[in-house]
Amino acid sequence: MIEFHRVTLEYPATKTLALEEINLSVKRGEFLYLTGHSGAGKSSFLGLIIKSVIPTTGQVYINSEPLTKYKGARVALHRRRIGMVFQDHSLLDHLSVLENLYFALRVVGAPQREWEERSLNVLRLVGLAHKQKVYPIQLSQGERQRVAIARAVVTNPVLLLADEPTGNLDPDVSWEIMELMNEINLKGTTIILATHSREIVERQRRRTLTLRKGKLVRDDPNGGYAI
Ligand SMILES: Nc1ncnc2c1ncn2[C@@H]1O[C@H](COP(=O)(O)OP(=O)(O)OP(=O)(O)O)[C@@H](O)[C@H]1O
Ligand SMILES: [Mg+2]
Repeated sequence: MIEFHRVTLEYPATKTLALEEINLSVKRGEFLYLTGHSGAGKSSFLGLIIKSVIPTTGQVYINSEPLTKYKGARVALHRRRIGMVFQDHSLLDHLSVLENLYFALRVVGAPQREWEERSLNVLRLVGLAHKQKVYPIQLSQGERQRVAIARAVVTNPVLLLADEPTGNLDPDVSWEIMELMNEINLKGTTIILATHSREIVERQRRRTLTLRKGKLVRDDPNGGYAI
Protein backbone atom coordinates (compact mmCIF):
# COMPACT_ATOMS: atom_id res chain seq x y z
CA MET A 1 0.00 0.00 0.00
CA ILE A 2 2.80 2.43 0.95
CA GLU A 3 6.41 2.11 -0.06
CA PHE A 4 9.37 4.29 0.68
CA HIS A 5 12.29 3.82 -1.63
CA ARG A 6 15.49 5.52 -0.49
CA VAL A 7 13.55 8.54 0.74
CA THR A 8 15.59 11.50 1.93
CA LEU A 9 14.02 14.73 3.07
CA GLU A 10 15.97 17.88 3.65
CA TYR A 11 14.14 21.05 4.63
CA PRO A 12 15.83 23.60 2.42
CA ALA A 13 15.18 26.65 4.64
CA THR A 14 17.19 25.26 7.53
CA LYS A 15 19.16 22.61 5.65
CA THR A 16 17.86 20.11 8.17
CA LEU A 17 18.19 16.51 7.12
CA ALA A 18 14.87 15.30 8.56
CA LEU A 19 14.88 11.83 6.99
CA GLU A 20 17.66 9.90 5.35
CA GLU A 21 17.49 6.96 2.95
CA ILE A 22 14.29 5.46 4.31
CA ASN A 23 13.22 2.13 2.81
CA LEU A 24 10.13 0.29 3.93
CA SER A 25 6.75 -0.96 2.90
CA VAL A 26 3.43 -1.02 4.68
CA LYS A 27 0.71 -3.47 3.73
CA ARG A 28 -2.99 -2.81 3.75
CA GLY A 29 -4.54 -3.57 7.12
CA GLU A 30 -1.34 -3.16 9.13
CA PHE A 31 -1.24 -1.19 12.39
CA LEU A 32 2.20 0.09 13.13
CA TYR A 33 3.93 2.37 15.55
CA LEU A 34 6.35 5.03 14.53
CA THR A 35 8.59 6.00 17.36
CA GLY A 36 11.67 8.10 18.05
CA HIS A 37 12.76 11.12 20.05
CA SER A 38 11.51 14.62 19.42
CA GLY A 39 12.94 15.80 16.11
CA ALA A 40 13.66 12.25 14.89
CA GLY A 41 11.45 12.76 11.82
CA LYS A 42 8.09 11.19 12.73
CA SER A 43 5.86 14.05 11.60
CA SER A 44 7.98 14.50 8.50
CA PHE A 45 7.47 10.82 7.69
CA LEU A 46 3.69 11.23 7.94
CA GLY A 47 3.90 14.44 5.92
CA LEU A 48 5.53 12.57 3.06
CA ILE A 49 2.58 10.18 2.89
CA ILE A 50 0.04 12.97 2.55
CA LYS A 51 2.39 14.87 0.26
CA SER A 52 2.53 17.93 2.48
CA VAL A 53 6.27 17.60 1.98
CA ILE A 54 8.06 15.94 -0.91
CA PRO A 55 11.25 13.91 -0.83
CA THR A 56 14.48 15.63 -1.74
CA THR A 57 15.56 12.34 -3.25
CA GLY A 58 13.91 8.93 -3.46
CA GLN A 59 10.28 8.03 -4.00
CA VAL A 60 7.13 7.38 -2.01
CA TYR A 61 4.77 4.94 -3.72
CA ILE A 62 1.08 4.54 -3.00
CA ASN A 63 -0.36 1.32 -4.40
CA SER A 64 2.77 0.99 -6.54
CA GLU A 65 2.40 4.43 -8.08
CA PRO A 66 4.89 7.18 -7.28
CA LEU A 67 3.39 10.11 -5.38
CA THR A 68 5.35 12.48 -7.62
CA LYS A 69 2.81 11.62 -10.32
CA TYR A 70 -0.02 12.97 -8.19
CA LYS A 71 -0.78 16.58 -9.05
CA GLY A 72 -3.46 19.08 -8.06
CA ALA A 73 -6.86 17.45 -7.69
CA ARG A 74 -5.29 14.03 -7.43
CA VAL A 75 -3.39 15.10 -4.32
CA ALA A 76 -6.62 16.40 -2.79
CA LEU A 77 -8.35 13.12 -3.61
CA HIS A 78 -5.47 11.17 -2.11
CA ARG A 79 -5.70 13.19 1.12
CA ARG A 80 -9.45 12.64 1.31
CA ARG A 81 -8.83 8.92 1.56
CA ILE A 82 -6.63 9.43 4.58
CA GLY A 83 -7.83 10.21 8.08
CA MET A 84 -5.55 12.34 10.19
CA VAL A 85 -5.40 12.86 13.93
CA PHE A 86 -3.04 15.37 15.46
CA GLN A 87 -1.85 15.98 18.96
CA ASP A 88 -3.74 19.25 19.22
CA HIS A 89 -7.02 17.76 17.93
CA SER A 90 -7.66 20.71 15.56
CA LEU A 91 -11.45 20.59 15.77
CA LEU A 92 -13.39 23.55 14.47
CA ASP A 93 -14.41 25.36 17.65
CA HIS A 94 -17.36 27.23 16.17
CA LEU A 95 -19.01 23.97 15.12
CA SER A 96 -20.69 21.43 17.37
CA VAL A 97 -19.36 17.88 17.63
CA LEU A 98 -21.88 16.66 15.07
CA GLU A 99 -21.17 19.58 12.74
CA ASN A 100 -17.46 18.87 12.89
CA LEU A 101 -18.17 15.39 11.55
CA TYR A 102 -20.57 16.74 8.93
CA PHE A 103 -17.84 19.10 7.80
CA ALA A 104 -15.48 16.19 7.16
CA LEU A 105 -18.19 14.33 5.25
CA ARG A 106 -18.93 17.39 3.15
CA VAL A 107 -15.25 17.71 2.25
CA VAL A 108 -15.12 14.15 0.92
CA GLY A 109 -18.41 14.62 -0.94
CA ALA A 110 -20.44 12.06 1.00
CA PRO A 111 -24.18 12.26 0.21
CA GLN A 112 -25.90 14.53 2.72
CA ARG A 113 -28.62 12.01 3.48
CA GLU A 114 -25.94 9.74 4.98
CA TRP A 115 -24.31 12.32 7.23
CA GLU A 116 -26.44 11.88 10.31
CA GLU A 117 -26.37 8.10 10.45
CA ARG A 118 -22.66 7.82 9.70
CA SER A 119 -21.78 10.51 12.23
CA LEU A 120 -23.89 9.01 14.99
CA ASN A 121 -22.40 5.59 14.30
CA VAL A 122 -18.84 6.79 14.82
CA LEU A 123 -19.82 8.92 17.80
CA ARG A 124 -21.23 5.78 19.37
CA LEU A 125 -17.97 4.00 18.56
CA VAL A 126 -16.01 6.66 20.46
CA GLY A 127 -18.61 6.75 23.24
CA LEU A 128 -19.71 10.32 22.67
CA ALA A 129 -23.12 10.14 21.03
CA HIS A 130 -24.54 12.01 24.01
CA LYS A 131 -22.23 14.96 23.32
CA GLN A 132 -23.19 15.43 19.69
CA LYS A 133 -24.68 18.91 20.20
CA VAL A 134 -21.95 20.44 22.34
CA TYR A 135 -18.99 22.52 21.20
CA PRO A 136 -15.35 21.44 21.49
CA ILE A 137 -14.58 23.89 24.33
CA GLN A 138 -17.26 22.17 26.39
CA LEU A 139 -15.40 18.86 26.20
CA SER A 140 -12.48 17.46 28.16
CA GLN A 141 -9.18 16.98 26.32
CA GLY A 142 -9.68 13.25 26.05
CA GLU A 143 -13.19 13.74 24.71
CA ARG A 144 -11.93 16.21 22.14
CA GLN A 145 -9.34 13.75 21.04
CA ARG A 146 -12.02 11.08 20.67
CA VAL A 147 -14.06 13.47 18.54
CA ALA A 148 -10.96 14.15 16.44
CA ILE A 149 -10.63 10.40 15.90
CA ALA A 150 -14.33 10.13 15.07
CA ARG A 151 -13.90 12.92 12.55
CA ALA A 152 -10.89 11.20 11.02
CA VAL A 153 -12.68 7.87 10.58
CA VAL A 154 -16.23 8.99 9.69
CA THR A 155 -15.14 9.23 6.07
CA ASN A 156 -14.06 5.55 6.07
CA PRO A 157 -10.43 6.28 5.26
CA VAL A 158 -8.27 3.46 3.95
CA LEU A 159 -5.44 4.84 6.03
CA LEU A 160 -5.35 6.59 9.39
CA LEU A 161 -2.30 8.64 10.31
CA ALA A 162 -2.18 9.54 13.98
CA ASP A 163 0.53 11.93 15.14
CA GLU A 164 0.86 11.64 18.92
CA PRO A 165 -2.89 11.21 19.41
CA THR A 166 -2.43 10.54 23.11
CA GLY A 167 0.23 13.20 23.65
CA ASN A 168 -1.56 15.28 26.25
CA LEU A 169 -3.73 12.64 27.83
CA ASP A 170 -3.51 10.79 31.09
CA PRO A 171 -2.69 7.08 30.86
CA ASP A 172 -6.25 5.78 31.33
CA VAL A 173 -7.59 7.99 28.59
CA SER A 174 -4.63 7.06 26.38
CA TRP A 175 -5.63 3.43 26.69
CA GLU A 176 -9.19 4.19 25.74
CA ILE A 177 -7.88 5.92 22.64
CA MET A 178 -5.64 2.96 21.84
CA GLU A 179 -8.52 0.53 22.20
CA LEU A 180 -10.49 2.69 19.87
CA MET A 181 -7.65 2.55 17.36
CA ASN A 182 -7.67 -1.24 17.63
CA GLU A 183 -11.36 -1.37 16.81
CA ILE A 184 -10.84 0.90 13.84
CA ASN A 185 -7.97 -1.26 12.62
CA LEU A 186 -10.09 -4.39 13.00
CA LYS A 187 -12.63 -2.80 10.69
CA GLY A 188 -9.92 -2.75 8.03
CA THR A 189 -8.26 0.66 8.28
CA THR A 190 -4.48 0.70 8.01
CA ILE A 191 -3.00 2.73 10.86
CA ILE A 192 0.34 4.43 11.40
CA LEU A 193 0.61 5.88 14.87
CA ALA A 194 3.48 8.15 15.83
CA THR A 195 4.18 8.12 19.54
CA HIS A 196 6.82 8.91 22.12
CA SER A 197 5.12 6.71 24.62
CA ARG A 198 7.13 3.79 25.85
CA GLU A 199 4.03 2.45 27.64
CA ILE A 200 2.01 2.28 24.47
CA VAL A 201 4.73 0.65 22.45
CA GLU A 202 5.50 -1.90 25.12
CA ARG A 203 2.03 -2.74 26.29
CA GLN A 204 0.69 -3.70 22.93
CA ARG A 205 3.33 -5.29 20.74
CA ARG A 206 3.12 -4.39 17.09
CA ARG A 207 5.41 -3.72 14.21
CA THR A 208 7.43 -0.73 15.31
CA LEU A 209 9.50 1.64 13.24
CA THR A 210 12.15 3.53 15.15
CA LEU A 211 13.65 6.71 13.80
CA ARG A 212 16.81 8.22 15.16
CA LYS A 213 17.94 11.57 13.78
CA GLY A 214 16.15 10.88 10.52
CA LYS A 215 17.41 7.35 10.07
CA LEU A 216 15.25 4.27 10.28
CA VAL A 217 17.31 2.36 12.81
CA ARG A 218 14.81 -0.38 13.50
CA ASP A 219 11.82 -2.00 11.81
CA ASP A 220 10.78 -4.71 14.19
CA PRO A 221 7.76 -6.90 13.44
CA ASN A 222 7.27 -7.66 17.13
CA GLY A 223 7.77 -4.18 18.42
CA GLY A 224 8.89 -2.97 21.82
CA TYR A 225 10.57 0.26 22.70
CA ALA A 226 14.20 0.75 21.89
CA ILE A 227 15.82 4.11 21.40
N1 LIG B 1 8.98 22.92 8.25
C1 LIG B 1 10.20 22.67 8.65
N2 LIG B 1 11.25 23.41 8.22
C2 LIG B 1 12.51 23.15 8.62
N3 LIG B 1 12.84 22.14 9.44
C3 LIG B 1 11.85 21.37 9.90
C4 LIG B 1 10.49 21.59 9.55
N4 LIG B 1 9.71 20.66 10.16
C5 LIG B 1 10.56 19.91 10.87
N5 LIG B 1 11.84 20.32 10.73
C6 LIG B 1 13.03 19.69 11.32
O1 LIG B 1 13.09 18.35 10.85
C7 LIG B 1 13.47 17.45 11.88
C8 LIG B 1 12.38 16.40 12.06
O2 LIG B 1 11.22 17.04 12.54
P1 LIG B 1 9.85 16.28 12.78
O3 LIG B 1 8.82 17.30 13.07
O4 LIG B 1 9.61 15.36 11.66
O5 LIG B 1 10.22 15.43 14.10
P2 LIG B 1 9.27 14.59 15.07
O6 LIG B 1 9.90 13.26 15.23
O7 LIG B 1 7.88 14.64 14.60
O8 LIG B 1 9.42 15.39 16.43
P3 LIG B 1 8.34 15.58 17.63
O9 LIG B 1 8.32 14.30 18.38
O10 LIG B 1 8.92 16.71 18.43
O11 LIG B 1 7.01 15.93 17.02
C9 LIG B 1 13.71 18.32 13.11
O12 LIG B 1 15.09 18.57 13.19
C10 LIG B 1 12.96 19.59 12.81
O13 LIG B 1 13.58 20.70 13.43
MG1 LIG C 1 6.13 15.42 15.40
